[in-house]
Formats: sequence, structure tokens, C-alpha cells
Amino acid sequence: MNARFENVVVVGAGTMGHGIAELAAMSGYTVYLADVNEEILRNAMSRIKWSLEKLRDKGRLGEDVESILARIRPVISVGGGGEFSEDLKKALEKADIMIEAIPEVLELKQKLFAFADRNASGRAILATNTSSLPITEIASATEKPERVVGMHFFNPPVLMPLVEIIRGEKTGDDAVKASSEFAKSLGKQVVVVNKDVPGFIVNRILGRFLNTGCLLVEEKVASIEEIDATAVYELGLPMGVFELADYSGIDVFYLVFEAMSKRGFSVRPCGLFKEKYEAKEYGVKSGRGFYTYPEPGKYSKPAIDKGKAGKIEPAWLLAPAVNEAAWLVRNGVATVEDIDKAVKLGLNWPRGVLEFADDYGIDTIVSSLEELKEKLNNGSLEPDPLLREKVERKELGRKSGRGFYNYEGIEERRLETLILRIEKPVAWIILNRPNKLNSITPKMLEELSQTLEILEEDERVRSIIIRGAGRAFSAGADITSFTAANPIEILKFSRKFQEVTMKIQRLAKPVIVAIHGYALGGGLELAMSGDIRIASEDAMLGQPEINLGFIPGAGGTQRLPRIVGVAKAKEIIMTGDMIPAKEAERIGLVNKVVAPERLEGEARNLALKLAEKPPIALAYAKLAIDRGIETSLENGLLLEATLFSLLFNTEDVIEGVTAFMEKRKPKFKGK
Ligand code: COA
Repeated sequence: MNARFENVVVVGAGTMGHGIAELAAMSGYTVYLADVNEEILRNAMSRIKWSLEKLRDKGRLGEDVESILARIRPVISVGGGGEFSEDLKKALEKADIMIEAIPEVLELKQKLFAFADRNASGRAILATNTSSLPITEIASATEKPERVVGMHFFNPPVLMPLVEIIRGEKTGDDAVKASSEFAKSLGKQVVVVNKDVPGFIVNRILGRFLNTGCLLVEEKVASIEEIDATAVYELGLPMGVFELADYSGIDVFYLVFEAMSKRGFSVRPCGLFKEKYEAKEYGVKSGRGFYTYPEPGKYSKPAIDKGKAGKIEPAWLLAPAVNEAAWLVRNGVATVEDIDKAVKLGLNWPRGVLEFADDYGIDTIVSSLEELKEKLNNGSLEPDPLLREKVERKELGRKSGRGFYNYEGIEERRLETLILRIEKPVAWIILNRPNKLNSITPKMLEELSQTLEILEEDERVRSIIIRGAGRAFSAGADITSFTAANPIEILKFSRKFQEVTMKIQRLAKPVIVAIHGYALGGGLELAMSGDIRIASEDAMLGQPEINLGFIPGAGGTQRLPRIVGVAKAKEIIMTGDMIPAKEAERIGLVNKVVAPERLEGEARNLALKLAEKPPIALAYAKLAIDRGIETSLENGLLLEATLFSLLFNTEDVIEGVTAFMEKRKPKFKGK
């Protein structure tokens, strides 16, 4: 909870409103959930209860369902004569923040905001969850537009990690700051959209991406399957263009784009979306969209043939989205980092759109736009001046050392399941199967093992960080590789995995593990073999193997009790429940918990700090602790004294002591 807030009023108890109310109640706030009649409210409360029970069953609630539900007070928002009710007025009087999630009709919203403005106390923030209307126009109905702000949640709010905070023309800095802090207190990550542009960040980027894929089919450049296979297998996106449209609802996209286009989002809309919309073939929900679904409303992943990938240049699918992002940057709407964060968290892309641009080369993006402009007869594909400027300055991305990001001095090797990034003196090992939550396959173990050997030898590297790409550290061993295996194969896998964890533990360099999202099963076992663990607030850790009928097989039954004690380890392993980051910190399973956006920076700072320490002494400290704990105190003490005395043979001891005398910072060489 954030102390500035106590009472939250959520107006509108539909899909978004009920989810936002649930989230706020889970975070400890008192929530007044308002809608026009009792039936809608009853329905919302039962959806909230159902969702909370599901979270509880997954071990993701810190308290019981009833206590959370008891914090939500349903309020009927209209009284006789269709005017707002006395109950809503009273709720607003208490509100520290109102979040509106009523239908996307400007007049309705303006009426509500005028009422809220008259009745809420002067310090209350008035936020709208609109996805298609201008914040500025909603705010114009109030006397204090400086306290009106956009807070765009993603569906479902309880699970999606992102909130876009949108500044209307008159929104004050305090409203931006307070609403950001409130969103963070709900466990969300925030990006700030500095100008009230239609579609904000995520829908604009998504709009370009979907529309381009669709136009390529409409113009018969490629087939639906070829587009989707390229998106999934070449770009590594979680879903193809058409698969995603079907999944989220073609009607939803069609209406959002229409609203964005009316407000000046210049685009040549793809006719296929319109056709599907008019034929009421909305996708999964109606059983038919671009693909067919045997049971309407039930998602089954369409089979997309890997062989169809590569018919078109993957950069073609990306280029218009990159162009849009460049427009956003050039116009000061959002920063490069926030755009990429929004794309990764809001669309679940494994890389940000501008990171992709740097990978493919900004010159390639510009030439792709030019080719597309011809093929798709689409003026809105004129390359943005920022892209042209970057090409002129030879800031082409990774290949030239600088693009949207700076890569000078950074070396990157991409293996099948890992990325090894060397940012001297720190090395990053990034588990890279984001679509499968970095679940660990035999191939990943092999690559981890080879990478550790390389890093052990590489003298430029003084400390190592392991982290996961996408939305999790790692959800454990890849369960699919267990299905047809026999005990002998499983034994081999388990021993191989244990060997990798031993390699990490024995490595003569410090290993920091940066955990975000899930660290489950083998993911946690891998993390436990590192020396220091930092987790982001959203991390969930656990050993869920018991729920699958087996036990941890990569060191969990051995390392966990050594870290948290026998009783706690038994509880974690025998219940299989997940524990949130804060609890993991309390029991000593992680060293520190930080806000998600600070995880990477904190890990890097710690790695840089360790990289300045004397390498041999660091290695000996690690050795003395790890080996000492496994032996008797007397033997441990002897080991300590031996290693301690050996260090007096090193140049680094002389340097350390001399620097102390000379009152300067030592420069250790590892000699
Ligand atoms: N092995 C193989 N695949 C896995 C996996 C694992 N351990 N964990 C996740 N995945 C895959 C999912 O099958 C899914 O693939 P799909 O998109 O092709 O269907 C993808 O990763 C995303 O996972 P999903 O389950 O859709 O995400 P979620 O946010 O709904 O749930 C978890 C996240 C972590 C709760 C859930 O994935 C889970 O329970 N995973 C297994 C955890 C476990 O038991 N680990 C111990 C293994 S020994």
C-alpha cells in the first residue's frame, strides 16, 4: 500500500473495472466499486471471488479470499431520475483516487468526471482507464483538470504487469506522480505517455504491427499462415498477427482502430479486419475468425506450420511498428526505454520494438519501409525523420555500436537457448526461451555448461549475472521433456542439471541471480546455486514439483534447507505453494527485493561493485563459505585459515594494504 491512498473508488464494474477493484483490494485498499444496478455489481463480485479463488489455489494470495472481498463495497451509482446516487457521492467524498472504467462514451465520462470533481476532496486524483478517448476532453468537464490523468490498465488487470499513465494537456505533475505511485503499489510497472495521443504507446505499436501483417495478406504478398509463422518462428513473438487478432477479438481491434483513426492516427486500415467484423467472425469468442475454433469461447492454439516462416522479410512486419515508435520518441511522447518496456510488458514481446530495430539494423528498417510503401500503397509508411537521421549519422544499431541504444564495448553471443552478453567486467547469461517462460531443456543445460566454462576462463569477466528474458526468470525444467522419458533418462537429466548447479557454485567468480516473474522448480534450483539473489517485487518463487507427483531433482531438497532451514524448506517443497518476493526476502531465500524497473540496474551495480574486489579473495571467500558449511566447524576453520594465509602470496594483498595506507582506492588485478 502507498500511504497517500486509502480509499479507492472504481466506477464501472465490467471487465476492466471489476479487475481493477480486485487488484486494489488485493493490495490492501478499501475499494468502492460502483455501477448502475445491483445485478451488474453482483455479477462483478462473483467474478472477483472466482478469480481470487483461482489465485489462492495457485498459491498467489497472501491472505484469505474473504478478507480481500470484505474490502470491496459495492455501490449503486445512479439513483432516481438517472442522476448519480447519494451513495456514489459519499464514496467519492472519501476517495483518495477514483478510477473510471465505464463505457467509452465521451458524454458519459464527462458527466461522471464533473460529478466526481464536485464531490471528491481537493487532493483526490481522478483517473480514467479509457483506451480510446482523449484525457484532455474528459478533463475539460472538471474545474481542476490538473488532477485528471489517464491510467490505462491491460486485460486482465490482475495479471497484466503494465499500466500506461497518460498526461492530458492540463494534467499536473502531481497527478502523474501520484497515479504512478499508486499503480506501483498495485505491483504494476508504469510507463509515462507525455502527450495525449490516440492509442497511447501499446495500441499504436500494436496497430501498426497488426495492420501491416493484414495488408500484406490483403495485397497478396503473403498468406495468413506465412505471416503468422514469420512472427512466431522468426521474430519469436508469442502469437502471430492473425492468431492474436482472433485471440483478443477482431471486433475489439476494429473498434479501437476506428476510434484511433477518427482522432488522427493516420493509417490505411486493412479491409480484412472490416470484413471479419461485419461478418461477425470475431475470432475465438465466435468460433471463427481468421482461424476456426471447435468450441466458441475456448482458445485452442491454431497449428502454424514452421515451414511457412521466411516467405517475407521479418523486418517488414516490424518496420511500421518501429516507425511509429520513432515518431513517439521524436515527438516527446515517450522515451525509448518506456516504449520498449510497454511493448515487452503490454504485448509480451521478447524484445522491445526499438531493441528489434537495433538488432535488424535501422538502415534495414528504413529500406523495409520504402519497399512496403510501394507494395502496400500506403503513405503512412514514409520513414520517420528520426530514422533517416540515424541512418545518416551511421547509428544503425547493434552492428555499428550505436542505434536507439549504445552497444559500444558490449559483445553478445546468441546461442539457441541463451544469450551471453559481455559488458566488461560483467557478463550476463540470459535464459532465452521467453515463450516457454525459460523452462529448462537439456539443450539449455548444455549451453549453460559451455557458457560457464567460457566465463571461468575469460579474464575480462569479474562477475556474472544470470537472468531470464521475457516475463519470468524460469518456470522450471521443461515438463514436456518428461512425458515420454524413463527413470534412466530422468536420472541423467537430473544429474546433468545438478552438475550445472555445481558448476555455478564452484565457479571462482561471484554469480548474481536477478529474478523477476516466476522462479519455480528447476528455475529456483538454478537460482539457489548462485551466490546472491536479487528479486523484483513481482517475483514468485517455489518448488511446485509435488503438484506434478514428483520432487525437486536439481538440488532443491538439498540447497533449499541449507538456505532457509529444514522446517521452511519442508513447507515449501511439501505444499508446492509459491511465495512472493517479499516473503522470500524475509526467510533469506533472496538477499534483496527491488522495484521491477530497478532489477537490472541493481544487479549490474552489485556486479560492478564485486568486480572491483580482489578476484582471488572473492573466490576464496566463496570457497571457504560453500565448502566450510558442508564440514565440521574445526575443518571449516582450518580451511579458512589455509585460504586466508594463501592470499598473502598475492599481489592484490600488497595493493590492498598499500592503497589503505595511501588513502586511495585499490586496483586489484587478480594476481
Ligand atoms: N515446462 C514447459 N513449458 C512450460 C513450463 C514448464 N515448466 N512452464 C511454462 N511453460 C510454457 C507453457 O506451457 C506455455 O506454453 P504455450 O504458450 O505454448 O502453451 C508458456 O510456457 C507460458 O506459460 P503459461 O502457463 O501460459 O503462463 P501462465 O502465466 O498462465 O502461468 C505458470 C505461469 C508458471 C504458473 C505456469 O506456466 C506453470 O505452472 N508452469 C509450470 C511450473 C512448474 O510446475 N515447474 C516445475 C517444473 S519441474
